[in-house]
Amino acid sequence: MKNVATNEQSVKIIQSWPNSEAAFRRAQKSLGGGVSTGLRAGAQPHPIFFERGHGSKLWDVDGNEYIDYVLGWGPNILGHGNPRLVDAVSEQIQRGATYGSGHRFEYEAAEWLLKAYPQLDRVLWSNTGTEADLTALRLARATTGRQHFVRFRGHYHGWSDQMIVGYRPRTGVADTRGQQDDVDDYVHLVPWGDVGALSDVLSRRDDIAAVFLEPILVNSGVIAPPPGFLAAVRELCDRHGVILIFDEVITGFRIALGGAVERFGVVPDLVVLAKAIAGGVTLSAIVGRAALIDQVTTGTTHAGTYNGNPLSLAAACATIAELAVPGTFDQLEAAGARLATGLREALRRAGVVGAVNQIGPIVQCGLGVTEICTFEDYLGADVDLYNQLLVELLRRGVFTLPGGRWYLSTEHSDEDIDRTLDAFDAALGAVRP
Ligand SMILES: Cc1ncc(COP(=O)(O)O)c(C=O)c1O
Repeated sequence: MKNVATNEQSVKIIQSWPNSEAAFRRAQKSLGGGVSTGLRAGAQPHPIFFERGHGSKLWDVDGNEYIDYVLGWGPNILGHGNPRLVDAVSEQIQRGATYGSGHRFEYEAAEWLLKAYPQLDRVLWSNTGTEADLTALRLARATTGRQHFVRFRGHYHGWSDQMIVGYRPRTGVADTRGQQDDVDDYVHLVPWGDVGALSDVLSRRDDIAAVFLEPILVNSGVIAPPPGFLAAVRELCDRHGVILIFDEVITGFRIALGGAVERFGVVPDLVVLAKAIAGGVTLSAIVGRAALIDQVTTGTTHAGTYNGNPLSLAAACATIAELAVPGTFDQLEAAGARLATGLREALRRAGVVGAVNQIGPIVQCGLGVTEICTFEDYLGADVDLYNQLLVELLRRGVFTLPGGRWYLSTEHSDEDIDRTLDAFDAALGAVRP
């Protein structure tokens, strides 16, 4: 192939992506920024356009093959083209994409979720994590009659005006242009892991409806909660009559069938799920105590044309049935550990300062820092160097996320991971400062 060169170890190195580049130029004429979500606009050297995926692999429009650690930014927990998922979706689309009324997958998928979260009673279906987080906030406000909420710095709960506050340090007056200008009046930010700071806010104020958190801070470093922290948050919420909301959009059905609730044994009032639950098809959910969820029939609006559509829920039933096969989460954990260990060893061999965190099939790699234990550590990592590494990985057939996170699926084999580690060694060599 013309755009592929060979290095001394006969590893194919992609030099350019002419068809992707042309596709991007064409897309820029019709799509805002040439992409479908703003985050992708900054992809280096430009967004790659894909044609198909299978198992752990993706193929782009230039005919290059990649091992995929992006997984659609998380949903493709079964990799691409899982036969059970494909059959379920293909069969359902022939029976109708959406009915706007009841069908068996609504309750069958809900039963799966309640089996995974046996301490909770009811499910609401929605479409994206952003929407489900907003629904959870509304339910908490309706229950408590309070308007304010607490969230932790660096956690991500979707892109809505109120939820985006605190995700990243502000560079201007707002988190995004066009943001409602009174959001700060309602949102109270606390450092992750700081029981004293949370206790202080909840003791000083009587207007807090909810505490939101990612039980593992995945979006800023894959940082586990300090021991006892989640239990302390639960206790504080109980003491102050505040609704505790776990945003398990990433961790749910990924680190265990019952997500972080199963792993840490602390039960919130509401759990928000999305991404992995439908294996790549659009779906989110709010799982919670009946007293909270049943408010949707007593004047608390929960709406959405596509809520609970049979296509998404057929996908969810198939995905969860696959994930429920005994041994699946052990396999995902082992794959994550193999990758993380290999990345650490490669950094050490190359003499590059870096830190690698791993929980289940989620891995975080940061360069220029010796550990990532806090949001500040995460922000201190060398983003420019990592972005160079990301391009060198891409050139060697490894597709990864910006920011250093890697997702693994049930389809990532030991061989995939070992090939990835060879590519990582070579990529490190190419960018070594
Ligand atoms: C923890 C968390 N919550 C909420 C969201 C928002 O989900 P969505 O992108 O489906 O709106 C995300 C997305 O990455 C997330 O990681």
